[in-house]
Amino acid sequence: MSDWLAPDVIASAPGRVNLIGEHIDFSQGFVLPFAIADRTYARIRKRGDQIIRIRSAQRSNDIITTSINQLAPGSDGDWEQYVLGVIWALGIQNGVDIEIDGHVPLGAGLSSSAALECAVAFALNNLFACGYSLKELALLAQKAENKYVGVPCGIMDQSVSLMAKSGSALLLDCRDLETRLIPFDLAASGLQLLIIDTQVQHALVDGGYAQRRQSCESVVEKLAIVSLRDLSYSELEETKNLLPEEEYKRARHSVTEIARVLKAVDALTNKDFTALGQLINESHRSLRDDYEVSCPELNCAVDTAISIGAVGARMVGGGFGGSAIALVKTGEIASIQSAIKEAFARSGFDVPRFFTSLPSDGARIEPLT
Ligand code: GLA
Repeated sequence: MSDWLAPDVIASAPGRVNLIGEHIDFSQGFVLPFAIADRTYARIRKRGDQIIRIRSAQRSNDIITTSINQLAPGSDGDWEQYVLGVIWALGIQNGVDIEIDGHVPLGAGLSSSAALECAVAFALNNLFACGYSLKELALLAQKAENKYVGVPCGIMDQSVSLMAKSGSALLLDCRDLETRLIPFDLAASGLQLLIIDTQVQHALVDGGYAQRRQSCESVVEKLAIVSLRDLSYSELEETKNLLPEEEYKRARHSVTEIARVLKAVDALTNKDFTALGQLINESHRSLRDDYEVSCPELNCAVDTAISIGAVGARMVGGGFGGSAIALVKTGEIASIQSAIKEAFARSGFDVPRFFTSLPSDGARIEPLT
């Protein structure tokens, strides 16, 4: 990292992969993500005025300068809006210099934006002794994204980036943000989680995400319930005729996905990876056919992985691009990767990137270096 500023505090926060529980955080569902090893770092120094200066170690010649009293939700800008949104949401009244060093792949569906928000939020909370709890920080980071940046995301990404623990997946109840750590030691069972970045850039601001969310909210309104969490599968079937076909399908994804998360927790607890793999496969089919947020590249990665022997595979995150995951036997990882590469080449898709990651820790203060 550069010596642009001698920071008063350095915090880091990770990106995430969601094992299962997609597009149900805003329906008060359960989700089961874990933090990946890639992190974003925020180095922050207090100023004696109200000026805010931000720069990124990746683009060190661009310095964005503004001030506390110019913070305005919905203003135009680029990645720095996420940083400004967090300063605004936390109610910071003091000027700051901030340098961001991001190592979470961008646009890959691995939550680089939540990592950025949470690194800044965690650092500011420490620097100004705000006293916010992790739950409060997650809600404030989400508020920054919803209100300041204008992206209607749920609460999963910020929660896991702040609350994750190494060695475990995080069962998050999105109704009250209560969490339970579910031990996730794949290596001991001879397995690995392969992350396949399709290189199709996805952005939640593009509209498809908001439309899906609106469909879910419309069902909640029509059925006069608090959230889709309150709807059982049989109740949904009974009300099928009251809903337009598309909304019914969106709700069917949500209701079945919430049930799959709880079954996945049982499967993980019992180390029943065959059952876990099947749930992961069902999740993908539901996201592809009922929720319609997959894309040809994601389907190709998933289908190829399964055909070559993956225990389970599915798209992750917001969809329309980004990454897929495959649960694979450690000895088969190389053959699955090359089969996916070949299938992408045959279809004329861009060359995919592969990662593996162990479940890592959430946001933390780093030593000053
Ligand atoms: C994005 C959002 C999350 C969540 C996922 C889909 O990552 O930021 O809140 O809705 O999509 O599960």
